[in-house]
Amino acid sequence: MRVFLTGGAGYIGSACAEYLLDRGYEVTVFDDLITGHIEAVDPRAKFIKANLSDRENLIKVVKEGKYDAVMHFAAFSLVGESMKNPSKYFNNNLANAINLADAAVAGEVKTFVFSSTAATFGEPKEVPIKEDAPQHPINPYGESKLCFEKVLNWYSRIYGLKYAALRYFNAAGATGKYGEDHNPETHLIPILLQVAQGKREKALLFGDDYDTPDGTCIRDYIHILDLAQAHEKALFAPKSGHYNLGTGSGLSVKQILDTARKVTGHPIPAEVVPRRPGDPPRLIACSDRARQELGWEPKFEDAGAIIESVWKWLETHPNGYSK
Ligand code: UFG
Repeated sequence: MRVFLTGGAGYIGSACAEYLLDRGYEVTVFDDLITGHIEAVDPRAKFIKANLSDRENLIKVVKEGKYDAVMHFAAFSLVGESMKNPSKYFNNNLANAINLADAAVAGEVKTFVFSSTAATFGEPKEVPIKEDAPQHPINPYGESKLCFEKVLNWYSRIYGLKYAALRYFNAAGATGKYGEDHNPETHLIPILLQVAQGKREKALLFGDDYDTPDGTCIRDYIHILDLAQAHEKALFAPKSGHYNLGTGSGLSVKQILDTARKVTGHPIPAEVVPRRPGDPPRLIACSDRARQELGWEPKFEDAGAIIESVWKWLETHPNGYSK
């Protein structure tokens, strides 16, 4: 099976490309390397360095490749940045994604797997969050992803393009080869481990006055290999669908900090500072649909194993991908 995978030099895309290549898929990675790393492109994949905004080129390469599936990871994903520069998010995450959907239709691709996000739900009224919960994003990042879910829905109805919108909760962890290397880094787990590595003096905990048992925000951390598994399963779904992907259990910022301390054996000093704007108190997935309809079975159910995988990756990549 031939897969056209955008964003394969990025964090989740690189892990998914590796997962598919390990299982015998032919993978073409399409990435402009603006935020991705060439070192994260699996050498077994064919690599095309190009931008999704070059519509004619995109349609040409997708048609020529005779792909069975498109997996679309390439996107900007910083919530805070999206509040300052919405145009950047709507242009890349929506307009460029439409180019890709058009290319998929022109190339008669059967299945489109889209990296969506829990951010499409905004501040949920109920947790765990089911797929049909109201979607009211509270930032342009979430809105851009929700808009493209809707585009896919219409393309499915009009052109018969089968799609899966996979809404990741908090993607975390590393594979043996590939891990998280963002610049700037804003995510909790890599920041805690940078403190343990001695690269930062202390971690900042954004608010301990939320309405949660220990006052810090609760998230559902899901390993990137489990996300990769869902992508493979989505190829065989009989029909289009939306799926929330998380373990179904939530951990607070303080619980993650304690786990990181245990895994690393480092005291990881931390200071509570005011809330970060736009953080919902609780985001937990109900992933029953993915388990039932796709046969998805996440393997990393505990945060210790997830954090250990990152800590191990940092042994071989202490500075991420930079030399
Ligand atoms: N946090 C800290 N200190 C830090 C970094 C994060 O306390 O230095 C807290 C945040 O306030 C939040 C939790 O740790 O409560 C997790 O924060 P992350 O930045 O790791 O992840 P988010 O939950 O903010 O974001 C993730 C994805 C987004 C997606 C969002 C869904 O990275 O792409 O979930 O709301 F939009």
